[in-house]
Amino acid sequence: MATYDRTAELHALDATKTGVQGLVASGCTSLPRIFIVPPDKRIPLPPALPTSACTSIPVIDLSSPDRKQVVKEVLRASSEWGFLQVVGHGVPQAVMDSMLDAVRAFHEGKFEEKAWLYSREPAKAVKYYCNFDLYQSKVTNWRDTLYCRMAPDPPTPEELPDSCRDALLMFSKLVMELGNTMFGLLSEALGLGPSYLIDIECNQGQIFVCHYYPPCPEPEVAIGTSQHSDPGFLTILLQDCTGGLQIHRDGQWIDVPPVPGAFIVNIGDLLQLISNDKFKSVEHRVLAKNAGPRVSVACFFSTNLHPGSTRLYEPIKELLSDRNPPLYRQTLVTSEGFYSVFLHKGA
Ligand code: OGA
Ligand code: NI
Repeated sequence: MATYDRTAELHALDATKTGVQGLVASGCTSLPRIFIVPPDKRIPLPPALPTSACTSIPVIDLSSPDRKQVVKEVLRASSEWGFLQVVGHGVPQAVMDSMLDAVRAFHEGKFEEKAWLYSREPAKAVKYYCNFDLYQSKVTNWRDTLYCRMAPDPPTPEELPDSCRDALLMFSKLVMELGNTMFGLLSEALGLGPSYLIDIECNQGQIFVCHYYPPCPEPEVAIGTSQHSDPGFLTILLQDCTGGLQIHRDGQWIDVPPVPGAFIVNIGDLLQLISNDKFKSVEHRVLAKNAGPRVSVACFFSTNLHPGSTRLYEPIKELLSDRNPPLYRQTLVTSEGFYSVFLHKGA
C-alpha cells in the first residue's frame, strides 16, 4: 500500500501515448491500481431499475408533422428528465455508422497516427488523450478520447486523423443541423421564439469527444466515465450498442438503453442556468464492462470558446417574474472557465 506511487504510474501510462487501449493490446489481464475505485467510493448502489415505459428516458420522433406535440414532449423530457432520445432526426444511419467505425478505427489504429496527436494542451483543437483530467482525478477512467473542436474555427482537414477525417466532417455538419433543430424546439418549449437560443449563441461552439472504452478485465471495480453533468448548453450523444450509460434520477441509476438509429440529447449546466432551472442538467456516468469495446461520440454545444472571448449568461429575463425570481447570478463563460468546470467536476 505505502509503496504505491500513483503519480509515477500515471506518468508511466501517459508516456506510452496509447492509453487504455494500449494496455489492453499489450495483454493486461488485471486492473492496474490507478483504475481501481477505492472501496469506500464503491458504495453498493441499488441495482439499476428495469427499463420500462415509465422508467426509461423519453424517445421523441422529430419527423412528426405535429410540431406542437413535439415541443410538448421536448418540454416534458427536458424539465423532468434532462435527457431524451431522438429518432426521425434526419441524420442517415450510414453517417452514424461510419462515425462509430471511424472512431473505432482511430483508437485501434497505428501508434504513429495516435501518438502525434497525444496532448492535453487546452488550446489544441484536435488531440487524443487518456483521461483529460489524468493528474487531477482520484480514479482513472477506463477510457480513451479523441477530441475535435469543430466550431468556431474548424480545423483544417489535414489536422484531423486520416481514419476519422471524412466521417467527422460529414457527421459534424449534420449534428450541427440537428443541434439547431433542438435549440429551436427547446426555445419554443420555454415559450420563446424559435430562434431565441441560437440568437444568444448557444450553438457557436461545437466540441466532439470520441470515446473508446476497451473491454475491462475487472469491470466491477472500475468506471468508464465518472459521475458528472455536462457543462455546456446541450449535448448530442451517439452511442453504439454496447450500453453502460446511466443517468441519476431520484437516488437511482437508470440505464440509457441503446436505441438503434437514435441520438441521446441532454441538457447541460448552462441551459439549466439560463432556463432558471426549468430544464435540468442531470448527472450521468458510464459503467466499465467486460464487453465491447464501447464507442461513443458526444458533441458539446457551447458558446463561442475563442481564447480570450467572454460572454455573460444569466436566467432569461422573459422567464422571470415575482413568482419565478432568478436563481443564478450573471455568469462569465470563457474558454478557460469552460475547461476548468470540466476539471472541477471530474467529467
Ligand atoms: C461525456 C459523456 C457518455 C458516453 O462525454 O460527457 O457523458 O456514453 N459521455 O460516452
Ligand atoms: Ni457527459
